[in-house]
Amino acid sequence: MGTTDIKRILVTGSEGQIGSELVGDLRERYGADNVVASDLRAPAAEEEGQAGPFEIADVTDRQRLAEILRRHRIDTVVHMAAILSAKGEREPALAWNVNVTGLINVLELARELDLNRVLCPSSIAVFGAGCPSENTPQETVLLPSTMYGITKVAGELLCDYYVDHFGVDARGLRYPGIVSAETLPGGGTTDYAVEIYYAAVEGKQFRCYVGEDTRLPMMYMPDCIKGTVQLLEADFDSLEHHGNFNLASMSFSAGELAESIRRRIPEFDIVYEPDYRQAIADSWPSSIDDSAARREWGWSPSYDLGAMTEDMLDRLSRRHAEGRLYKGQPA
Ligand code: NAD
Ligand code: SER
Repeated sequence: MGTTDIKRILVTGSEGQIGSELVGDLRERYGADNVVASDLRAPAAEEEGQAGPFEIADVTDRQRLAEILRRHRIDTVVHMAAILSAKGEREPALAWNVNVTGLINVLELARELDLNRVLCPSSIAVFGAGCPSENTPQETVLLPSTMYGITKVAGELLCDYYVDHFGVDARGLRYPGIVSAETLPGGGTTDYAVEIYYAAVEGKQFRCYVGEDTRLPMMYMPDCIKGTVQLLEADFDSLEHHGNFNLASMSFSAGELAESIRRRIPEFDIVYEPDYRQAIADSWPSSIDDSAARREWGWSPSYDLGAMTEDMLDRLSRRHAEGRLYKGQPA
Protein backbone atom coordinates (compact mmCIF):
# COMPACT_ATOMS: atom_id res chain seq x y z
CA MET A 1 0.00 0.00 0.00
CA GLY A 2 1.03 3.59 -0.58
CA THR A 3 1.63 6.35 1.95
CA THR A 4 -1.20 7.47 4.22
CA ASP A 5 -1.34 11.10 3.06
CA ILE A 6 -2.01 10.04 -0.55
CA LYS A 7 -5.56 8.78 -0.80
CA ARG A 8 -7.14 9.93 -4.05
CA ILE A 9 -4.98 10.64 -7.11
CA LEU A 10 -5.66 12.39 -10.42
CA VAL A 11 -3.33 11.40 -13.28
CA THR A 12 -3.47 13.89 -16.17
CA GLY A 13 -2.16 12.78 -19.59
CA SER A 14 -3.21 9.24 -18.64
CA GLU A 15 -3.39 8.02 -22.25
CA GLY A 16 0.23 8.90 -22.96
CA GLN A 17 3.31 6.69 -23.01
CA ILE A 18 4.00 7.02 -19.28
CA GLY A 19 0.55 7.84 -17.87
CA SER A 20 -1.00 4.75 -19.44
CA GLU A 21 1.34 2.46 -17.49
CA LEU A 22 1.54 4.56 -14.32
CA VAL A 23 -2.24 4.50 -13.81
CA GLY A 24 -2.26 0.68 -13.59
CA ASP A 25 0.57 0.69 -11.08
CA LEU A 26 -1.06 3.37 -8.91
CA ARG A 27 -4.41 1.55 -9.03
CA GLU A 28 -2.74 -1.57 -7.66
CA ARG A 29 -1.18 0.44 -4.83
CA TYR A 30 -4.01 2.79 -3.92
CA GLY A 31 -7.13 0.98 -5.14
CA ALA A 32 -8.71 1.28 -8.59
CA ASP A 33 -11.46 3.71 -7.52
CA ASN A 34 -8.93 6.03 -5.87
CA VAL A 35 -6.99 6.77 -9.06
CA VAL A 36 -8.80 8.96 -11.58
CA ALA A 37 -7.30 8.87 -15.08
CA SER A 38 -7.75 11.90 -17.31
CA ASP A 39 -6.74 13.00 -20.81
CA LEU A 40 -7.86 15.06 -23.78
CA ARG A 41 -8.65 11.83 -25.58
CA ALA A 42 -10.70 8.81 -24.52
CA PRO A 43 -8.99 5.52 -23.59
CA ALA A 44 -8.02 3.10 -26.36
CA ALA A 45 -10.83 0.66 -27.13
CA GLU A 46 -9.20 -2.32 -25.37
CA GLU A 47 -8.85 -0.30 -22.17
CA GLU A 48 -12.45 0.84 -22.04
CA GLY A 49 -14.15 -0.44 -18.93
CA GLN A 50 -10.75 -1.16 -17.37
CA ALA A 51 -11.16 -0.82 -13.63
CA GLY A 52 -11.16 2.79 -12.53
CA PRO A 53 -12.66 6.21 -13.22
CA PHE A 54 -11.76 8.30 -16.30
CA GLU A 55 -12.47 11.96 -17.12
CA ILE A 56 -11.92 13.83 -20.38
CA ALA A 57 -10.23 17.12 -19.49
CA ASP A 58 -8.04 19.76 -21.08
CA VAL A 59 -5.43 20.84 -18.52
CA THR A 60 -5.52 24.39 -19.89
CA ASP A 61 -9.15 24.60 -18.64
CA ARG A 62 -8.76 25.41 -14.95
CA GLN A 63 -12.48 25.32 -14.20
CA ARG A 64 -12.83 21.82 -15.58
CA LEU A 65 -9.82 20.65 -13.55
CA ALA A 66 -11.26 22.25 -10.40
CA GLU A 67 -14.57 20.51 -10.94
CA ILE A 68 -12.85 17.11 -11.31
CA LEU A 69 -10.62 17.66 -8.27
CA ARG A 70 -13.60 18.60 -6.10
CA ARG A 71 -15.99 15.92 -7.33
CA HIS A 72 -13.46 13.11 -6.89
CA ARG A 73 -12.06 14.56 -3.63
CA ILE A 74 -8.53 14.40 -5.10
CA ASP A 75 -5.60 15.08 -2.74
CA THR A 76 -2.69 14.28 -5.11
CA VAL A 77 -2.10 15.18 -8.77
CA VAL A 78 0.39 13.35 -10.99
CA HIS A 79 0.59 15.73 -13.91
CA MET A 80 1.67 13.89 -17.07
CA ALA A 81 -0.19 15.94 -19.71
CA ALA A 82 2.35 17.65 -21.97
CA ILE A 83 3.53 18.34 -25.51
CA LEU A 84 6.93 16.71 -26.09
CA SER A 85 10.03 18.01 -27.83
CA ALA A 86 9.57 17.20 -31.52
CA LYS A 87 5.88 18.18 -31.59
CA GLY A 88 6.75 21.25 -29.50
CA GLU A 89 9.13 22.48 -32.22
CA ARG A 90 6.32 22.26 -34.75
CA GLU A 91 3.76 23.89 -32.41
CA PRO A 92 5.70 26.03 -29.91
CA ALA A 93 2.74 28.12 -28.71
CA LEU A 94 0.74 24.96 -28.04
CA ALA A 95 3.70 23.49 -26.10
CA TRP A 96 3.92 26.63 -23.95
CA ASN A 97 0.18 26.67 -23.31
CA VAL A 98 -0.18 22.99 -22.38
CA ASN A 99 3.11 22.63 -20.48
CA VAL A 100 3.17 25.95 -18.61
CA THR A 101 -0.47 27.10 -18.36
CA GLY A 102 -1.51 23.50 -17.63
CA LEU A 103 1.02 23.27 -14.79
CA ILE A 104 0.12 26.68 -13.33
CA ASN A 105 -3.51 25.56 -13.31
CA VAL A 106 -2.57 22.44 -11.33
CA LEU A 107 -0.34 24.37 -8.90
CA GLU A 108 -2.91 27.14 -8.35
CA LEU A 109 -5.60 24.54 -7.65
CA ALA A 110 -3.22 22.70 -5.32
CA ARG A 111 -2.91 25.95 -3.37
CA GLU A 112 -6.60 26.84 -3.48
CA LEU A 113 -7.91 23.37 -2.61
CA ASP A 114 -5.08 22.59 -0.20
CA LEU A 115 -4.01 19.41 -2.03
CA ASN A 116 -1.41 17.19 -0.37
CA ARG A 117 0.94 16.73 -3.30
CA VAL A 118 1.70 17.45 -6.98
CA LEU A 119 4.23 15.57 -9.12
CA CYS A 120 5.16 16.95 -12.55
CA PRO A 121 7.96 15.42 -14.63
CA SER A 122 10.71 17.49 -16.14
CA SER A 123 13.20 16.24 -18.73
CA ILE A 124 16.80 16.07 -19.91
CA ALA A 125 15.54 18.70 -22.38
CA VAL A 126 16.18 21.40 -19.75
CA PHE A 127 19.89 21.11 -20.63
CA GLY A 128 21.47 22.84 -23.59
CA ALA A 129 24.44 24.96 -24.52
CA GLY A 130 27.10 25.46 -21.89
CA CYS A 131 26.40 22.48 -19.63
CA PRO A 132 28.76 19.47 -19.45
CA SER A 133 27.44 16.75 -21.73
CA GLU A 134 28.91 13.82 -19.73
CA ASN A 135 27.52 13.14 -16.26
CA THR A 136 25.65 16.46 -16.33
CA PRO A 137 25.29 17.65 -12.75
CA GLN A 138 22.07 18.40 -10.92
CA GLU A 139 22.94 22.08 -10.68
CA THR A 140 24.24 23.54 -13.94
CA VAL A 141 23.44 26.16 -16.54
CA LEU A 142 20.00 25.59 -18.11
CA LEU A 143 19.90 27.07 -21.61
CA PRO A 144 17.65 24.77 -23.66
CA SER A 145 17.34 25.32 -27.40
CA THR A 146 13.82 23.88 -27.78
CA MET A 147 10.45 25.31 -26.76
CA TYR A 148 9.84 22.03 -24.91
CA GLY A 149 13.05 22.55 -22.91
CA ILE A 150 12.05 26.14 -22.15
CA THR A 151 8.68 24.97 -20.81
CA LYS A 152 10.38 22.32 -18.69
CA VAL A 153 12.81 24.82 -17.12
CA ALA A 154 9.81 27.08 -16.42
CA GLY A 155 7.95 24.09 -14.95
CA GLU A 156 10.80 23.23 -12.57
CA LEU A 157 11.03 26.84 -11.42
CA LEU A 158 7.26 27.03 -10.97
CA CYS A 159 7.24 23.90 -8.81
CA ASP A 160 10.02 25.32 -6.63
CA TYR A 161 8.26 28.71 -6.49
CA TYR A 162 5.02 27.15 -5.23
CA VAL A 163 6.98 25.14 -2.64
CA ASP A 164 8.82 28.24 -1.40
CA HIS A 165 6.03 30.82 -1.58
CA PHE A 166 2.85 28.86 -0.90
CA GLY A 167 3.97 25.68 0.87
CA VAL A 168 2.59 23.50 -1.94
CA ASP A 169 4.27 20.08 -1.94
CA ALA A 170 5.42 19.95 -5.60
CA ARG A 171 7.96 17.45 -6.90
CA GLY A 172 9.50 16.64 -10.25
CA LEU A 173 12.14 14.52 -11.97
CA ARG A 174 14.13 15.00 -15.15
CA TYR A 175 13.30 11.83 -17.04
CA PRO A 176 15.70 10.63 -19.71
CA GLY A 177 14.19 9.15 -22.91
CA ILE A 178 11.70 6.49 -21.83
CA VAL A 179 11.54 3.13 -23.64
CA SER A 180 8.39 1.05 -23.26
CA ALA A 181 6.42 -1.77 -24.85
CA GLU A 182 2.80 -0.76 -24.16
CA THR A 183 1.99 2.71 -25.53
CA LEU A 184 3.95 4.29 -28.36
CA PRO A 185 5.62 7.61 -27.48
CA GLY A 186 3.87 10.83 -28.44
CA GLY A 187 6.11 13.16 -30.44
CA GLY A 188 9.45 13.22 -28.64
CA THR A 189 13.01 13.18 -29.94
CA THR A 190 13.84 9.87 -28.22
CA ASP A 191 10.94 8.01 -29.88
CA TYR A 192 13.40 6.16 -32.17
CA ALA A 193 14.56 4.12 -29.16
CA VAL A 194 11.05 2.62 -28.95
CA GLU A 195 10.15 2.47 -32.65
CA ILE A 196 13.34 0.53 -33.44
CA TYR A 197 12.06 -2.50 -31.48
CA TYR A 198 8.76 -2.53 -33.39
CA ALA A 199 10.62 -2.51 -36.71
CA ALA A 200 12.91 -5.31 -35.47
CA VAL A 201 10.08 -7.69 -34.50
CA GLU A 202 8.24 -6.93 -37.76
CA GLY A 203 11.38 -7.77 -39.74
CA LYS A 204 11.43 -4.29 -41.30
CA GLN A 205 14.38 -2.06 -42.05
CA PHE A 206 14.51 0.77 -39.49
CA ARG A 207 15.12 4.30 -40.73
CA CYS A 208 16.72 5.99 -37.74
CA TYR A 209 16.30 9.77 -37.68
CA VAL A 210 19.40 10.35 -35.52
CA GLY A 211 22.96 9.34 -36.39
CA GLU A 212 24.62 6.10 -35.32
CA ASP A 213 26.85 7.84 -32.73
CA THR A 214 24.07 9.86 -31.10
CA ARG A 215 24.23 8.92 -27.42
CA LEU A 216 21.47 9.91 -24.99
CA PRO A 217 20.38 9.01 -21.46
CA MET A 218 17.52 6.49 -21.57
CA MET A 219 15.43 4.44 -19.15
CA TYR A 220 13.16 1.40 -19.33
CA MET A 221 9.55 1.94 -18.28
CA PRO A 222 9.60 -0.31 -15.16
CA ASP A 223 12.40 1.90 -13.77
CA CYS A 224 10.51 5.05 -14.79
CA ILE A 225 7.41 3.86 -12.88
CA LYS A 226 9.52 2.78 -9.91
CA GLY A 227 11.31 6.14 -9.68
CA THR A 228 8.12 8.14 -10.14
CA VAL A 229 6.30 6.30 -7.37
CA GLN A 230 9.36 6.45 -5.09
CA LEU A 231 9.58 10.22 -5.44
CA LEU A 232 5.80 10.59 -5.11
CA GLU A 233 5.90 8.70 -1.81
CA ALA A 234 9.14 10.17 -0.44
CA ASP A 235 9.02 12.03 2.87
CA PHE A 236 8.90 15.77 2.05
CA ASP A 237 11.30 16.56 4.90
CA SER A 238 14.00 14.36 3.35
CA LEU A 239 13.98 16.40 0.10
CA GLU A 240 16.44 19.23 -0.46
CA HIS A 241 15.50 19.51 -4.13
CA HIS A 242 11.90 19.57 -5.31
CA GLY A 243 10.98 20.09 -8.97
CA ASN A 244 14.15 19.02 -10.74
CA PHE A 245 15.75 15.70 -9.73
CA ASN A 246 18.11 14.28 -12.38
CA LEU A 247 17.10 10.64 -12.98
CA ALA A 248 19.40 8.22 -14.81
CA SER A 249 19.79 4.56 -15.56
CA MET A 250 21.61 3.91 -18.88
CA SER A 251 23.09 5.78 -21.83
CA PHE A 252 23.64 4.32 -25.29
CA SER A 253 24.17 5.40 -28.88
CA ALA A 254 21.72 4.52 -31.64
CA GLY A 255 24.39 2.14 -33.01
CA GLU A 256 24.77 0.36 -29.66
CA LEU A 257 20.99 0.01 -29.43
CA ALA A 258 20.90 -1.60 -32.89
CA GLU A 259 23.77 -3.90 -31.86
CA SER A 260 21.88 -5.06 -28.76
CA ILE A 261 18.93 -5.99 -31.00
CA ARG A 262 21.22 -7.81 -33.45
CA ARG A 263 22.37 -10.11 -30.65
CA ARG A 264 18.83 -11.59 -30.77
CA ILE A 265 17.91 -10.77 -34.40
CA PRO A 266 21.18 -10.91 -36.41
CA GLU A 267 19.46 -9.92 -39.68
CA PHE A 268 18.06 -6.67 -38.20
CA ASP A 269 18.68 -3.85 -40.68
CA ILE A 270 19.03 -0.14 -39.88
CA VAL A 271 19.85 2.95 -41.93
CA TYR A 272 20.65 6.36 -40.45
CA GLU A 273 18.86 9.34 -41.96
CA PRO A 274 19.17 12.24 -39.51
CA ASP A 275 16.40 14.86 -39.72
CA TYR A 276 15.48 17.99 -37.69
CA ARG A 277 15.47 15.91 -34.48
CA GLN A 278 19.26 15.39 -34.75
CA ALA A 279 19.87 18.98 -33.65
CA ILE A 280 17.56 18.51 -30.67
CA ALA A 281 19.34 15.29 -29.65
CA ASP A 282 22.73 16.99 -30.08
CA SER A 283 21.68 19.74 -27.66
CA TRP A 284 21.02 17.19 -24.86
CA PRO A 285 23.60 15.50 -22.60
CA SER A 286 24.86 11.96 -23.19
CA SER A 287 24.65 11.04 -19.52
CA ILE A 288 23.46 12.72 -16.33
CA ASP A 289 24.44 12.55 -12.66
CA ASP A 290 21.52 11.45 -10.48
CA SER A 291 23.31 11.36 -7.13
CA ALA A 292 20.81 13.81 -5.53
CA ALA A 293 17.93 11.41 -6.30
CA ARG A 294 19.97 8.49 -4.94
CA ARG A 295 20.87 10.39 -1.78
CA GLU A 296 17.57 12.13 -1.02
CA TRP A 297 15.03 9.42 -1.82
CA GLY A 298 16.96 6.22 -2.46
CA TRP A 299 16.79 6.04 -6.27
CA SER A 300 18.45 2.98 -7.85
CA PRO A 301 17.60 1.67 -11.35
CA SER A 302 17.28 -2.03 -12.23
CA TYR A 303 17.60 -2.29 -16.03
CA ASP A 304 20.60 -1.93 -18.33
CA LEU A 305 20.50 -1.98 -22.15
CA GLY A 306 20.84 -5.78 -22.43
CA ALA A 307 18.05 -6.52 -19.94
CA MET A 308 15.79 -3.91 -21.53
CA THR A 309 16.30 -5.28 -25.06
CA GLU A 310 15.55 -8.86 -23.91
CA ASP A 311 12.32 -7.77 -22.25
CA MET A 312 11.21 -5.45 -25.08
CA LEU A 313 11.79 -8.14 -27.72
CA ASP A 314 10.05 -10.83 -25.61
CA ARG A 315 6.98 -8.68 -25.10
CA LEU A 316 6.69 -7.28 -28.61
CA SER A 317 7.39 -10.66 -30.28
CA ARG A 318 4.63 -12.26 -28.21
CA ARG A 319 2.16 -9.54 -29.20
CA HIS A 320 3.25 -9.68 -32.84
CA ALA A 321 2.66 -13.45 -32.90
CA GLU A 322 -0.85 -12.83 -31.53
CA GLY A 323 -1.51 -10.22 -34.27
CA ARG A 324 -1.80 -7.31 -31.82
CA LEU A 325 1.60 -5.64 -31.91
CA TYR A 326 0.13 -2.14 -31.93
CA LYS A 327 -2.31 -0.85 -29.32
CA GLY A 328 -5.75 -0.54 -30.84
CA GLN A 329 -5.00 -3.25 -33.45
CA PRO A 330 -7.92 -5.71 -33.63
CA ALA A 331 -6.97 -9.15 -32.20
P1 NAD B 1 2.85 11.55 -24.18
O1 NAD B 1 2.96 12.54 -25.26
O2 NAD B 1 2.96 10.12 -24.51
O3 NAD B 1 1.48 11.76 -23.40
C1 NAD B 1 1.02 13.02 -23.03
C2 NAD B 1 -0.49 12.95 -22.91
O4 NAD B 1 -0.95 14.27 -22.61
C3 NAD B 1 -1.18 12.49 -24.19
O5 NAD B 1 -2.00 11.37 -23.91
C4 NAD B 1 -2.00 13.70 -24.63
O6 NAD B 1 -3.26 13.35 -25.17
C5 NAD B 1 -2.16 14.43 -23.30
N1 NAD B 1 -2.41 15.87 -23.50
C6 NAD B 1 -1.84 16.70 -24.41
N2 NAD B 1 -2.36 17.94 -24.29
C7 NAD B 1 -3.28 17.88 -23.29
C8 NAD B 1 -4.15 18.83 -22.71
N3 NAD B 1 -4.21 20.10 -23.14
N4 NAD B 1 -4.94 18.42 -21.69
C9 NAD B 1 -4.91 17.14 -21.25
N5 NAD B 1 -4.11 16.19 -21.77
C10 NAD B 1 -3.30 16.57 -22.79
O7 NAD B 1 3.90 11.95 -23.05
P2 NAD B 1 4.63 11.00 -22.01
O8 NAD B 1 5.82 10.45 -22.68
O9 NAD B 1 3.68 10.08 -21.36
O10 NAD B 1 5.17 12.10 -20.98
C11 NAD B 1 4.61 12.32 -19.70
C12 NAD B 1 5.44 13.37 -19.01
O11 NAD B 1 6.80 12.93 -18.91
C13 NAD B 1 5.52 14.72 -19.74
O12 NAD B 1 5.59 15.76 -18.81
C14 NAD B 1 6.83 14.65 -20.50
O13 NAD B 1 7.37 15.91 -20.75
C15 NAD B 1 7.67 13.87 -19.49
N6 NAD B 1 8.82 13.21 -20.10
C16 NAD B 1 8.64 12.13 -20.93
C17 NAD B 1 9.74 11.50 -21.49
C18 NAD B 1 9.60 10.30 -22.41
O14 NAD B 1 10.61 9.85 -22.96
N7 NAD B 1 8.39 9.77 -22.60
C19 NAD B 1 11.03 11.97 -21.20
C20 NAD B 1 11.17 13.09 -20.40
C21 NAD B 1 10.06 13.69 -19.83
N1 SER C 1 11.68 11.82 -24.51
C1 SER C 1 11.42 13.22 -24.43
C2 SER C 1 11.45 13.84 -25.79
O1 SER C 1 12.15 13.31 -26.61
C3 SER C 1 12.45 13.88 -23.56
O2 SER C 1 11.82 14.73 -22.70
O3 SER C 1 10.82 14.82 -25.99
